[in-house]
Amino acid sequence: MRQTLDAHDAPSRPLRERVFSGIQPSGASHLGNYLGAQVNYVAMQEEFETIYGIVDYHALTTVHDGAELRRLTHEMVLDLLAVGLDPQRCALIRQSDLPEHAELAWIFNTVVPVSWVERTPTYKEKRQQGVENSMGLLDYPVLQAADIVIYKATRVPVGKDQAAHLELSREIVRAFNRRYGPIFPEPEPVFTEVPVVLGTDGATKMSKSAGNTIPIFAEPDEIRRLVMNMVTDRQRIRRSDPGRPEICNVCQLHRFFGSDYLQIQDGERTARTGCVDTKQLLAERIIEFFRPMRAERARLAADPAVVEETLAAGRAKVRPILEATTAEVRQLVGIGPRRAP
Ligand code: AMP
Ligand code: TRP
Repeated sequence: MRQTLDAHDAPSRPLRERVFSGIQPSGASHLGNYLGAQVNYVAMQEEFETIYGIVDYHALTTVHDGAELRRLTHEMVLDLLAVGLDPQRCALIRQSDLPEHAELAWIFNTVVPVSWVERTPTYKEKRQQGVENSMGLLDYPVLQAADIVIYKATRVPVGKDQAAHLELSREIVRAFNRRYGPIFPEPEPVFTEVPVVLGTDGATKMSKSAGNTIPIFAEPDEIRRLVMNMVTDRQRIRRSDPGRPEICNVCQLHRFFGSDYLQIQDGERTARTGCVDTKQLLAERIIEFFRPMRAERARLAADPAVVEETLAAGRAKVRPILEATTAEVRQLVGIGPRRAP
């Protein structure tokens, strides 16, 4: 098993293709995070050089209590280890341990036209949700681009809600490369087969900020409660009414927790089964699916040192890569002392 990243090779081509993804410590990991992104974080460790970041600078746009942000960051490390990230194979980092990310974002800020970030769909969505319209919120995707390209990562496992951000990352790379020379590769998103997972309201994307999530490590009774309260097909009022599984969020989620979802959908369509049956079954399957990961999480959480040790190891692995890119960029744009030729 590989113990280190292929860092010695930076800043030229890494030995294996490099992967980066980030997740905000703004709440507990939920089904959308898991099905949309974390499944691929785990799978890609096998084949690629993988770096995963807990992006706490990003979370500052919505989490405004310092103690709470620190707690959420700690919990997110445990979540990621429990779903299967292996610190022997990947580097798990805390973004704020590596302020070079923010420096590169600033440099990108001088390249990116304001109109590009103003038209970002997630910016508009968050404004609609009432998130404070800070410079940080507007600049969010520029920092995201910096997170990825500071490692010259070429593949980015994310949920489909991030497609526009990745498109913008590529535009930013092209704009920078045009101005200063072609040093950054254009990153590609890597999606799972799931569409954007809807929240328990059945209407909007499952997201920590919308308060409509099913946290994967919630207590079993909490998962039961949340699933039982999910909004399904509003037109199915009586038990005998036929359902419409294509618009029922509960039926859609069954796809990912069992191979018999076609029968389940058929049961709904013909009113052989009712929403309550389908929900109960889904809740039990979700609980069963995450049971071993929940046990692993409890085991890890009992060791008070595990989180900081994991982050220190991640930081040490990525430092050489990030220092090489930072030196290269500073030289190219003309900031800092001149490097010896
Ligand atoms: P976030 O919680 O916004 O930091 O998202 C972390 C990862 O989970 C990103 O790759 C997102 O694209 C993915 N993700 C978040 N919510 C969903 C969702 N409802 N459906 C699919 N993927 C999601
Ligand atoms: N914007 C991403 C999200 O909300 C989180 C993120 C920050 C990210 N930096 C990243 C994702 C870099 C991929 C790569 O989900």
